[in-house]
Amino acid sequence: MTDPIHFGWFVGQGFGVQGWRKDSYPWGYKWYQPAIWEQAGRVLEQAGFDFLLLKDGPTVHASERTAKVGLASAEAGPRHETQFLVPYLLNATERLGIVTTINSSHYDPFIAARNISTLYHFDGPRVGINVVTSGGGVPIRDSNFQAPSAPLGPESTYERADEWITIVKRLWESWDRDAVVEDDVSRVYARWEGIHPIDFHGKHFDVPGPTSALPFQDEGPIIAAPSNSSRGLRFVAEHADVQFGYSTDAETITWIRDQLDAGAHAAHRDPSKIRSFANISPKVVGSKAEKEEYLRWRRSDESLDRNLPLLSVILDHDLTTLDYDAPIPNDLLERWTSNPVSAGVVHAFLATIDDPATTPLREIGARSTHGQSGDIVGTAEEIADYIEEIASSGTGGIIFDFNVDPESLYGTLVPLVPVLRRRGLLRTDYVSNSLRENLAGF
Ligand SMILES: Cc1cc2nc3c(=O)[nH]c(=O)nc-3n(C[C@H](O)[C@H](O)[C@H](O)COP(=O)(O)O)c2cc1C
Repeated sequence: MTDPIHFGWFVGQGFGVQGWRKDSYPWGYKWYQPAIWEQAGRVLEQAGFDFLLLKDGPTVHASERTAKVGLASAEAGPRHETQFLVPYLLNATERLGIVTTINSSHYDPFIAARNISTLYHFDGPRVGINVVTSGGGVPIRDSNFQAPSAPLGPESTYERADEWITIVKRLWESWDRDAVVEDDVSRVYARWEGIHPIDFHGKHFDVPGPTSALPFQDEGPIIAAPSNSSRGLRFVAEHADVQFGYSTDAETITWIRDQLDAGAHAAHRDPSKIRSFANISPKVVGSKAEKEEYLRWRRSDESLDRNLPLLSVILDHDLTTLDYDAPIPNDLLERWTSNPVSAGVVHAFLATIDDPATTPLREIGARSTHGQSGDIVGTAEEIADYIEEIASSGTGGIIFDFNVDPESLYGTLVPLVPVLRRRGLLRTDYVSNSLRENLAGF
């Protein structure tokens, strides 16, 4: 029996259209109403997952180059506010962690601290936040917000994020835990001496505080952050409890762990409290023949037309307009590798290709997964082997990177959960209703 590892579910579409372009879309579920989300929450809790993590991008995630493919595929939007979904998910579940995404490049830290504190006081220790940074410096996204006038490079983006999360945490601590006395005799609800301004003055923000929200009676929300870069991993090591990304090879997983450990020590934090996760999108098939059939389909124009729009939006170029049987134009490869926002994604996208400059797009597209099924195609037993292999490289957990449409949810969990449980990889029960305690449980 193998040791258990942690599991999460990352909804790549966020609170947006679920399962568009899938054969199962005519199920007719309304993505903009709570029912399908409540159902997904219950299923993930029954499966013993640690958390459901909702991606977010508050703007129509497209440029002039990708607006057409981005909206046709619903990859660029519409997308609703994930924070509003959290109370429904908390109501529908009891133990599952619910992690909502907030972008430090766009959201005001004072508002973010108050919103998350409000959600945390609904059902306490199950709420977490995922702090993301993309968009910093992409005009079409930033101009909607009173974001910084000049585009931010990778270092300033994280510098701004450092200030942002520091402000949020200090606001959460700006009320003493015993500031609220509710003294009926003296008719005092809260002691003014127990509430403190934070007087934060930085390069990017000036925030006097305090917050108007109640203090936490525990360590407060789990903080997650996705990153594949050394600067991003330093951000995680200094401020977060969970790191995740698309790296599944042993060498990169070890490098990530070393970065987190070194960064945590430098920040006087206990590195063993930081969990790192690898995002995968396995395709479960019933047989070798079904696998070969699926891999053949992945090279088809139909599959590429369906699956390249997401990458097109992230990489800011409509890949469906390119010749699938020719290599990706060099100027495009150069633009991608020099652009910070997509560095991590490009690394994962091209990592499986020997020579991207000569490999036809069809080959690259057929292997790329990024939010769609396919980085590992196999029977449930074969995928469990793959998960054990990743776990043995030192990652603390696996995040299934899918939307919550029925095909993704049931198509993945129904065959896999029994195998993962039989092997002892997936918990059979929770130690508590605290996401932090469940993540610390093993
Ligand atoms: C697995 C993963 C999930 C991400 N999710 C989001 C998201 O929900 N919203 C967003 O704006 N950016 C998202 N990002 C972008 C990151 O916040 C960050 O901007 C990007 O990865 C570049 O930073 P890096 O070079 O440190 O990886 C995600 C990145 C990764 C790797």
